[in-house]
Amino acid sequence: MKILAFNGSPRMTNGVTDRVLQKFMDGAKEAGAETEIIYPAKENIKFCAGCFSCWIIHPGKCIHKDDMPIIIKKFKEADTIVFASPVYVDGITAQLKKLIDRLITASSPFIEERDGHQRHPNSDDNNATKIAFISTSGFGEKDNFDPLIHHIQAMASNMESEFVGSLLRPMAPGMEDYYNPDPEIVELILNSFRQAGHELVTKGKISEDIQEACSTPLFTMEEFQRRANDMFERFIKKADTKKE
Ligand SMILES: Cc1cc2nc3c(=O)[nH]c(=O)nc-3n(C[C@H](O)[C@H](O)[C@H](O)COP(=O)(O)O)c2cc1C
Repeated sequence: MKILAFNGSPRMTNGVTDRVLQKFMDGAKEAGAETEIIYPAKENIKFCAGCFSCWIIHPGKCIHKDDMPIIIKKFKEADTIVFASPVYVDGITAQLKKLIDRLITASSPFIEERDGHQRHPNSDDNNATKIAFISTSGFGEKDNFDPLIHHIQAMASNMESEFVGSLLRPMAPGMEDYYNPDPEIVELILNSFRQAGHELVTKGKISEDIQEACSTPLFTMEEFQRRANDMFERFIKKADTKKE
């Protein structure tokens, strides 16, 4: 099994999204998968121009000269795609969306009806059959992920892929040392992401229990709010001292 992940965080390997994604990929590797993570923020990716040249004039080829051809080749070869992104203003990050729009090159313009809905078929050489979603957020409520889950599930339907689960990490900054989280809860969370990766490879799906465990609360809502506000106050004061 080949698993390709796109991590849309602009903080890339310094972010919490990567911390949990790496654990997920570790679990998948332990179960025998071949894994790779691509960070759209460091790739040369231009915005889709909306010209449809890749469908009409040069099928499968974009007008832009950038890193997308190699990314699309990897996308087509992988059998499982993981879209990973922090919540940014109630959506996925611009870095990830820019890449996703360009994946249109890997589909066909013709409209067909699948399961009572109009869709574009994938190009014939596209292997992707499963899609998983990993996300982190700065607020504590899980409903902050709803618009993003809806988006990725719709994409999975359009991409003729099975949606195999969402691994959600609310209060994500609370995982950082400066929040002083309970190390046992952090360990449990990271282990759940690892188990999720293992389970996806061995069982083809991620169980509801493991998905739930990835979202284990780190603090009560009130406690998280208090720690977050204390932290911002401290950081702002420190920045002010440096400016003086
Ligand atoms: C520009 C921006 C917008 C954000 N918008 C939201 C938001 O709408 N809801 C939320 O819960 N968190 C929001 N956050 C917080 C991030 O989702 C959170 O800090 C996340 O863990 C960052 O992931 P990273 O560490 O991988 O970069 C936002 C952060 C930034 C920088």
